[in-house]
Amino acid sequence: EVNSVFATEPVLNQFKAKIVEKLSTLLNVAEDLAYESLEVPNKSINGDFAFPIPRLKLPGNPVQIAKELQQKIKTDEYILKVTAFGPFLNFFINKNLLTQKLLPQILTQDTKYGNNYDGVGKTALVEYSSPNIAKPFHFGHIRSTIIGNFVKNVLNATGWHTVSINYLGDWGKQYGLLAVGFEKYGDEELLQKDPIKHLFDVYVQINKDGEEKDENGNSEVHDSARRYFKKMEDGDADALKLWQRFRDMSITKYREVYGRLNIMFDIYSGESQYSYEQCKEVLDELQGKNLLVPSDGALIVDLTEKNLGTAVIGKSDGSLLYLSRDIAAAISRHEIYNFDKLYYVVASQQNHHFKQLFTILEEMGKPWVKNCEHINFGMILDMSTRRGNVVFLEELLDATQESMHEVMKKNEEKYNQIENPDLVADTVGLSAIMIQDMSSRRNKDYSFVWSRMLSFEGDTGPYLQYAHSRLRSIERKAEEAGIVIPEDLVVNFNLLVEPQAVLLMNFLAKFPEVVKEVSKSFEPCGVVQYCFELCHNFSSTYEQLYVLNQEKELAVARLALYKSARITLGNGLRLLGIM
Ligand code: ARG
Repeated sequence: EVNSVFATEPVLNQFKAKIVEKLSTLLNVAEDLAYESLEVPNKSINGDFAFPIPRLKLPGNPVQIAKELQQKIKTDEYILKVTAFGPFLNFFINKNLLTQKLLPQILTQDTKYGNNYDGVGKTALVEYSSPNIAKPFHFGHIRSTIIGNFVKNVLNATGWHTVSINYLGDWGKQYGLLAVGFEKYGDEELLQKDPIKHLFDVYVQINKDGEEKDENGNSEVHDSARRYFKKMEDGDADALKLWQRFRDMSITKYREVYGRLNIMFDIYSGESQYSYEQCKEVLDELQGKNLLVPSDGALIVDLTEKNLGTAVIGKSDGSLLYLSRDIAAAISRHEIYNFDKLYYVVASQQNHHFKQLFTILEEMGKPWVKNCEHINFGMILDMSTRRGNVVFLEELLDATQESMHEVMKKNEEKYNQIENPDLVADTVGLSAIMIQDMSSRRNKDYSFVWSRMLSFEGDTGPYLQYAHSRLRSIERKAEEAGIVIPEDLVVNFNLLVEPQAVLLMNFLAKFPEVVKEVSKSFEPCGVVQYCFELCHNFSSTYEQLYVLNQEKELAVARLALYKSARITLGNGLRLLGIM
């Protein structure tokens, strides 16, 4: 159902609509085109909106047309001034009116400010994180977790119903290997204590053993692993029981670690759901559509014509692969959810894999494949812990918390005022990792730099959280001084006339547009940059415009401004997953 406050058009759109109305009374121009053509000038002396005349493709000189229009357009309470600047019309809006409309909107919409309804009635599946049991959680999984969570948040903020899926790597010959290894090296106590680490250690050891080959180049370890996995594929109850235990224990541990990041999944799925039995139908379908070709005993789909090489679907020993399971998974997800969108948040290294996947689905005649999308990202360079390149998410979080704690202790006076320093170090430390991860465009690789990431200065997670808590403390201190925003929001907003106040307000008004933008690009840096700029704006405003010790009316108006800034920042941080 549509809540009327939430449904209120973003304030800047109301001003845009006015401009469009004016233009279309003078010109024969499609309203959509006019609306979309409106730009925000780089410099504020060029007004709040600029309309590029060339976009209209009218006969005649655009500079001349701009001049003529400028004289004909009538100003009103929304638009105070119109100027012609080259081929542009520049519009100056009534900032007082903006304030009067904007602040009440932010204050009433509160945590929903910035949201929209674009996705209402639609379902998106978002698959992210997806680590492999018994293997380390590497940068790809970390970034997938952070970016995937952002994607889900943005979809929810724009009205989509989402189902978040963690598609575990929990199937394949390596689980045969793990079982063989556990028989030899398994330790029940260590398994109970930390299943993820113990299974990884077992896996490393048995892999070493597997390197030994007999005179024919065969490895006894790998042969038994293959036999074991075959038993799993055949549904052997005993083989599955052990595997199920490993899986359950790992998921319990993952849940705990994700919990620290405040991340939850609707579904823990995994490759195991698409075992041989489940994939058989898909194989038959591929066969029936003449897409499978035998090649060296294996079964492949030939995609060379599409420049995607050949895709191996089944190996010569009859076993299936990662790709085969992904085909089955997509088909089954479509059957179950009839999704409007299916997003895979996975590192760019798998670009080729997803191109093959989508192309095969297309060749199978699945029209819905156009709604599948691979949201990819680059690498984290130089990320290592005590184990070298092997990074366990939990270890990384612990190390971050520890370092954050040290950074905090440097300011002894402040440190002693903190109630629960461990918790604060954890929260702020995590925001450091997350913001560093989301600061640049997804596809850029970046280096993991501890000192930069953990600093309270510069564009870091701790800086954002610090700014948010400063804003909170303004509200707290005002309350203590008896300064309150009346419930009916009757506030004299006209008192907010200083250039910094106007600048901050203008900036807050842009937030809904940012949300809309990132809901198309899925670039978290759009929100990160917005939050930083908002904090800079706030800082310079707060250097001059105080709430305490002012005339009552002015104090209340300023408080409303800062509270609106806090709400907007909080909503941005929530999208990013750090609140
Ligand atoms: N478990 C895989 C890996 O670690 C990622 C899974 C990505 N999702 C998918 N549907 N293939 O590489």
